[in-house]
Amino acid sequence: MSEAAVAEGVSTYKVTDGVAVLAIDSPPVNALGYSVRVALDEGISRAVADDAAKALIIRCDGRTFFAGADISEFGGELRKPDLNDIFLAIEASAKPVVAAIHGTALGGGFELALACHYRVAVASAKVGLPEVSLGLLPGAGGTQRTPRIAGVETALELIVGGRPLGAAKAQKTGLIDEIIEGDLEAGAVAYARKLVEEGAPLRRVRDMSVDLDPEAAKAAIEAYRAAHKRDFRGFKAPGNIVKAIEAAATLPFDEGLKREWELFEELMSSSESIAQRHLFFAERTAGKIPVARDVKPLVVASVAVIGAGTMGSGIATAFLNAGVPVTLVDRDEAAVERGAGGIRKTFAGLVAKGRITEAEGDRRSGLLTTSTDLASAVAPVDLVMEAVFEDIDLKKTVFAQIDAAAKQGAILASNTSFLDLDRIAAATSRPEWVIGLHFFAPANIMRLLEVVRGAKTSDPVIATGMAIGRQLGKIAVLSGVCDGFIANRAMTPRMSSAEALVLEGPTPAQVDKAINDYGFAMGPFQMIDLVGLDVIGWDRENSAGRTVQEVLCEMDRWGQKKNGGYYDYDEARRASPSPVAEKVIRDFAEKTGVPQRSFTDAEIVERLLYPVVNEGARIVEEGIALRASDVDVALVTGYGWPVWTGGPMCWADSVGLPKIVAALDEIIGPDAVSPLLRKLAAEGGSLT
Ligand code: 3HC
Ligand code: NAI
Repeated sequence: MSEAAVAEGVSTYKVTDGVAVLAIDSPPVNALGYSVRVALDEGISRAVADDAAKALIIRCDGRTFFAGADISEFGGELRKPDLNDIFLAIEASAKPVVAAIHGTALGGGFELALACHYRVAVASAKVGLPEVSLGLLPGAGGTQRTPRIAGVETALELIVGGRPLGAAKAQKTGLIDEIIEGDLEAGAVAYARKLVEEGAPLRRVRDMSVDLDPEAAKAAIEAYRAAHKRDFRGFKAPGNIVKAIEAAATLPFDEGLKREWELFEELMSSSESIAQRHLFFAERTAGKIPVARDVKPLVVASVAVIGAGTMGSGIATAFLNAGVPVTLVDRDEAAVERGAGGIRKTFAGLVAKGRITEAEGDRRSGLLTTSTDLASAVAPVDLVMEAVFEDIDLKKTVFAQIDAAAKQGAILASNTSFLDLDRIAAATSRPEWVIGLHFFAPANIMRLLEVVRGAKTSDPVIATGMAIGRQLGKIAVLSGVCDGFIANRAMTPRMSSAEALVLEGPTPAQVDKAINDYGFAMGPFQMIDLVGLDVIGWDRENSAGRTVQEVLCEMDRWGQKKNGGYYDYDEARRASPSPVAEKVIRDFAEKTGVPQRSFTDAEIVERLLYPVVNEGARIVEEGIALRASDVDVALVTGYGWPVWTGGPMCWADSVGLPKIVAALDEIIGPDAVSPLLRKLAAEGGSLT
């Protein structure tokens, strides 16, 4: 195909008032794929040669300015023209080139704007270099141009942090020259005309110098590196970004650009970036569910949350943060007030930290009402969100009460962690309106929302569940009904494997360290001590010293709350290995005849995490998850599975499925290995 044909329909070109306007239209987000690059290349050449044009505006149609390089092209061969070719052409233009930004100018999109002589934006626009969240760095001059305009420190914040800046803030740092009120194109044309009339210089960022001399820049960069050491753990991209910014401050522009490209290429082939790019698409794919496109989500403009405990309060906070009025219900005034007080305290905390204004804090608190009368609270709302104790009989009773009081067309949702949603739905006269909305603690913070479809849940209700995720700024993953749904079920083998493993020799501290080093913030024993050994499946009446957990619970070692569990704790809750717990474990091993040996950290990781991979594969083969990448999204966003591995399924693919299956045959026995996993391993296939 000729280049002209490639770019056909992607751009329009016109000249208004002596200013050429090149508008790109490549839905959905104007990513800078091959056809867009060709259209830009052609449009710029045309404007340069066009005697009627004294300046050029580059802008986009659709919902946003360029969203960056086309991530789906990464990993393959990149066809010319590349971004740097286009940027060179812009810089070389003898006519001023102005970027006119709306929506988000991200990554390569913002780098294009930085290569222009001037940048204007509407007030609602955002600009940023988020490549770090793909395990990359801005590879088209972003690390070299940003410090030349905004200074080394702002460049570090913007590029290592990866969070976009609003137009007003960007203007303060010099990254945006002017904010346009009203129509963007008309404003940009007027701005360009003024540049021409005033004979404004062709401002090439490459010719500017950074704000600090090389020694001062090195010192600032060293201080930044030291202050952010913890954030960099496990990730390669932040370190490379810092090196690229250092190159901007210490090398001539073209050499800096070369260094940036080397550092970019190093990241592009790194396992972290492959994993993070997998997660980028996995998060978006999770929203694609087998519900017809014309099934529209229902509007959720009011909510009643039943149960004002840990989860009910967190869920209410999440809705209030999204501007949805909530009535919080519990059995008595004391309980409901405890919950509401906690919510108000959360908002006060946000105000104190300067995260929201006092007026916003008051507005959110003002959307909260409380009640002890379930029937009247439930009657008017669009969504009833149940979060009472995890007890099937109680949930059935509460759902029968909700069914009797809720209006027709209301969604009836349960936050159950493990119970059978279909049994809960059967307690109502309208199971098609019942759905699971499984939040993770703290519900106002954690990004995962498991949307659980029961056997009878209707498509509009499922679509609404997924839309609620978006409404709350969360990632929604669809799950079928099973014990623990996707995330809790997949992670259960990590705990059971850990309990079995300590009997064979490793200490809880050694197991936790191996898992911490893999990238989890908490190992299984740190986690169980925090949550409490007594609440995770301990039955006081029937406890008979049959497991280490039962013995520890019987000794009153329930974890942090009792100053001892698998670890001992001092007054400041600092953990240290517990000789008492270790003796319990060794005595138990001796009593049950478990042979002892030493384990390497790698073996510990295999023993704990390969069974998670196996459970994930079972969840996929049973159709509980729609696809393996949904398991990755659920565990990364719900359980803190390290992002740079891409989640258990992506990680398993990178380790190699035959190796994992061979190890699982030993660890859990051949009969327990997922047939899907075994089949893929034999065929040379992959999970993701
Ligand atoms: N490349 C390819 N596809 C992209 C893309 C990109 N840069 N950005 C978004 N898409 C796709 C998504 O996969 C999705 O596809 P789908 O509809 O088939 O699932 C579609 O565009 C819409 O995306 P979202 O659902 O995310 O749309 P939103 O409106 O919610 O968000 C956005 C829009 C804020 C632009 C968001 O898509 C986003 O953050 N995109 C990525 C931005 C980014 O990371 N850019 C840097 C790229 S790397 C780079 O530029 C390297 C350079 O330095 C050389
Ligand atoms: P919790 O014990 O903190 O709160 C439960 C609340 O429900 C209490 O305030 C109680 O008074 C109230 N309640 C009980 N019966 C009621 C009734 N008939 N009417 C009104 N209110 C009633 O429990 P938590 O931790 O908030 O759990 C709630 C649900 O969320 C459970 O199903 C649990 O499995 C699930 N869940 C819990 C998570 C966690 O980390 N705690 C995570 C995800 C889900």
